[in-house]
Amino acid sequence: MKHFFSVLIIISFISLPIFAQDVSVEKGKFRVGDNAAWAGVNVDESAWRDITNTSTWTSQGVKCENAFGWYRYHVTIPKSLLDKSDLKETVDFIMGKIDDADEVYLNGKMIGKTGSFPSDPKGYEGKWNTLRQYRVKSNSDLIRWDADNVLAVRVYNAGDPGGMFQGPVIVRVPNTIDNLSISISEGAKGKEQGGSQCVCTLTGQMSATKSGIFTVQVQDPETGKVLAEKSQNVSVNAKKNRTISMPYDNHSMVRIIATFTESKSGLSTTTKYIPKYILTPAAPAEPRFNTTPLYGVRPDSPIHFRFGVSGEKPMKFSSDDLPKGLTLNPDNGALSGSLEEVGSYTFTVKAKNAKGEQTQRFTIRCGSKIALTPPMGWNSWNCWGLSVTQDKVISSSKALIEKGLADYGYCYMNIDDGWEAPKRNDDGTIAVNEKFPSMKELGDWLHSEGLKFGIYSSPGDLTCGGYLGSIDHELQDAESYNSWGVDYLKYDWCGYGRKHRTEPDNKTVASYVRPYLLMERCLRQQPRDIFYSLCQYGMAEVWKWGHAVDANSWRTTGDITDTWESLYDIGFCQQPELYPYAQPGHWNDPDMLIVGKVGWSNNLRDSRLTPDEQYTHISLWTLLASNMLIGCDIAQMDEFTVSLLCNNEVNAVNQDILGKQAQRVVLDGSIQIWSRPLSDGSYAVGIFNVGKDDARVDFKKYFKEMGIGTLKSVRDLWRQQDLSTSDVNYFIPTHGVKYLKIR
Ligand code: GAL
Repeated sequence: MKHFFSVLIIISFISLPIFAQDVSVEKGKFRVGDNAAWAGVNVDESAWRDITNTSTWTSQGVKCENAFGWYRYHVTIPKSLLDKSDLKETVDFIMGKIDDADEVYLNGKMIGKTGSFPSDPKGYEGKWNTLRQYRVKSNSDLIRWDADNVLAVRVYNAGDPGGMFQGPVIVRVPNTIDNLSISISEGAKGKEQGGSQCVCTLTGQMSATKSGIFTVQVQDPETGKVLAEKSQNVSVNAKKNRTISMPYDNHSMVRIIATFTESKSGLSTTTKYIPKYILTPAAPAEPRFNTTPLYGVRPDSPIHFRFGVSGEKPMKFSSDDLPKGLTLNPDNGALSGSLEEVGSYTFTVKAKNAKGEQTQRFTIRCGSKIALTPPMGWNSWNCWGLSVTQDKVISSSKALIEKGLADYGYCYMNIDDGWEAPKRNDDGTIAVNEKFPSMKELGDWLHSEGLKFGIYSSPGDLTCGGYLGSIDHELQDAESYNSWGVDYLKYDWCGYGRKHRTEPDNKTVASYVRPYLLMERCLRQQPRDIFYSLCQYGMAEVWKWGHAVDANSWRTTGDITDTWESLYDIGFCQQPELYPYAQPGHWNDPDMLIVGKVGWSNNLRDSRLTPDEQYTHISLWTLLASNMLIGCDIAQMDEFTVSLLCNNEVNAVNQDILGKQAQRVVLDGSIQIWSRPLSDGSYAVGIFNVGKDDARVDFKKYFKEMGIGTLKSVRDLWRQQDLSTSDVNYFIPTHGVKYLKIR
């Protein structure tokens, strides 16, 4: 959990409301270590230190990594809490967020657990970003009314900073309305309107039956106009939910507003939700080239490239002037072979299907540089974590082709951590574990489809997932990668940190450069191009020296996760100064994409980003000339995610051959404008609303600041529509974007 602190600053604004009838507890006692007896009521706390639960234990001077610590609180729970509640059924213990996994005991008995510990059957799972809320029946003997109660919290921390950090702990006897919640999900496609349908479910967490009116509205968020409405008289309790389904058109932004008003109290609860909406227009049936017509390769290195062409299948590919040494597969558009001489090779490729044909002039620059545009592809980490297998890689690769992502230039298929065997072979070469029957066959198959093959290792003894790293075997590993046909190496600091700490010069930049330079020398001895991706989270300002170790990209931050806080911190807070360091062949990498089904394990879920946050994510990453590595299971990718990743005009910004990363040119409260020049003389401009309310933005207001004189043209990149040059007033929803190309 890197860069946790900056995330913390943001989430500390989102604190829970404290009701008058709540009891709040901030100060407690703490001890590093683990002892089951510390859950009990009678424990001698004289050797325990003071602590608060509003900031992590590291920030309070505690050192406790990959280990347990215990908190103990004494709290009087007044019986008057019951009198103030109309429901009186339960007592809730709202513990805030805890880094990373916890068990909570009330007067010696466990009342809740989140995440899991290394000793648990399923192994360690951290949940630092999850709000803990544990519930006890109010008639339970566990609660000592008007007397001292002991709340003991056992916490395991897998990496600093650790502990409870979003206190105070709140003890609450909820009212009826606190116990009613409405969830909105996207159901199966509605036949009506040819769009989608959302399912609004009212749930009551109480045994008593409560009645009232349940209303669902579909609203235009921009005008507030109600487009459709349904209302029902309903009764709910813990055993009886109520559902209202509502169709809507999924090609424009709508807001679903579901409200329940309880008859007796007149109190109401409302949930608002903007469901996924698709802006990218469907691709034409005729062939359309979507990949950049420029490719860098070193002399004699094998070329694996696939022409990305959308349109009806089957499609046939041909070229009359293919450079000597190259072959074009007529069925899938895969280009292979190699070029001996340094130089620029331009030729024409034709794609033809039943609906028509199109040609593209294409240039291969054979010289010292590869990755002339940022890499596009997939990486296993954000979906499968350490549970990646060869079958899962193949299934995402097949889906990449079948769902048309390969037609938009996504080509790298990268295995992240979790492929290595526990021991090297007797001759010191790296061995693969049972999940990967044959790396060579996998590489050959990917290449036959014109795709590329990526792998992961660490300069240390162990990777972050605890698998074998490359230390003292760098050349041998580079040779193994070559023999398997590897085209991309992500080289992750991880275990190297332990060695680094013992080095006398570890405060110098040279000490950070050393392991990466060593592997670069080994990679460059191989007779193939291997994209070299540095992963060390931005230490020692890697962007200033990444190109000097001939890295093709370098991670600029810690790990991303699928929350707005993480996206905001990494995308908007940590990138503004980095634009001077990106250039063709060498890119800043703010980490992989968090759209689609992710989960870092076998348990995948939909990305927790809202649709607008996902539009923001892809818009910003294309502006940043970032690596575009899909982090979800492509086999389970839905139509919305495909539409996000396969907008040819949006992707063209990322792949623009000028290779200039966007600068933040306007910072005006919650409105930020990022802009980058493009090779055709136009500019890509993202107007972002990072605030929590929808906004109306008069773009004109910023013309002077941005150096815009007269607008000659404005194009909406997501909708692929030309817009007025005079009326430039835009509605931008919370966490959303207006993505333009202007002249
Ligand atoms: C982290 C890295 C992640 C992933 C993981 C694998 O250090 O930042 O992207 O590669 O290790 O264990």
